[in-house]
Amino acid sequence: MPDPLFSVVDEVVVISGVSGQLGCRYAHAFLKRGAMVMGLDLKRSQSLDELSLQFPDCFSFFECNVTLIESLREALAMTRSVFGDPSVLINNAAIDSPPNAPLEENGAFEDYPDASWDRVMDVNVKGVYLACKIFGSVMASNKRGSIINISSIYGVVSPDQSIYEYRRQSGEIFFKPIAYAVSKSALLNLTRYLATYWARTGVRVNTLVLAGVEDRQAPEFLKAYCARMPLGRMADKDEYNGAVIFLASAASSYMNGAQLIIDGGWTAI
Ligand SMILES: NC(=O)c1ccc[n+]([C@@H]2O[C@H](COP(=O)([O-])OP(=O)(O)OC[C@H]3O[C@@H](n4cnc5c(N)ncnc54)[C@H](O)[C@@H]3O)[C@@H](O)[C@H]2O)c1
Repeated sequence: MPDPLFSVVDEVVVISGVSGQLGCRYAHAFLKRGAMVMGLDLKRSQSLDELSLQFPDCFSFFECNVTLIESLREALAMTRSVFGDPSVLINNAAIDSPPNAPLEENGAFEDYPDASWDRVMDVNVKGVYLACKIFGSVMASNKRGSIINISSIYGVVSPDQSIYEYRRQSGEIFFKPIAYAVSKSALLNLTRYLATYWARTGVRVNTLVLAGVEDRQAPEFLKAYCARMPLGRMADKDEYNGAVIFLASAASSYMNGAQLIIDGGWTAI
């Protein structure tokens, strides 16, 4: 018998960035527990095929660009027609500069491309703002809902540039860039703003702060990262599922405007 405290049965959960590494794991965690999931992303990934096979009536995908309000309006209309009104929104879509990004993106701050700044802010901040506007407004009028904004340890503390020393030792100019970190800290106050704005409507808004997930990173990176990490390892891709279920369910009914930090102890130092 499932614990009603953590129940997400029949919730209509919208997950942006569902084609990515973590979005599809969240989708699976909700579907397994009886929720309906509308996944949004620029493109559908193969990782979602298994979800469609396993949960044909409860999982749906809609191609959506979170930076475009019209695209989000269409996503809302599709969610309503397939499952009904949304009750949970996970703002998970984001972009970062990957380790193999163009040289200047991971170069010196002084040379960081302004266009990259705009691109990152557009998805990571404006995309969340717009999705809250479209989906959160429906929740507020229904007087029920939970919004989970996904941030990062790099939104709470600065990236530790010493982790990337191994790249600089080989003569490269390499720094974790500024835009991702600033975009992820913007979410902390976007969360607080909406948490208080919607507090009396029954919509709760919280931030989930994550640390890095192991994903075939370079051994030198893994070594440096894990040496800095109190738990001594990166997260497994399923280790944040418990947190999203908690934030979506009655178990977190008195949690609003807060940050849930699941980071192996990174920010404890
Ligand atoms: N993976 C990690 O180590 C880690 C660590 C800390 C925080 N996070 C955060 O967790 C979230 C998910 O991370 P991930 O590793 O699964 O990333 P990912 O890159 O695997 O997935 C992100 C998804 O967002 C989608 N996306 C990008 N722009 C979009 C747009 N304009 N509209 C709609 N979808 C768009 C991408 O297509 C992609 O499928 C992100 O918010 C990220 O910042 C991840």
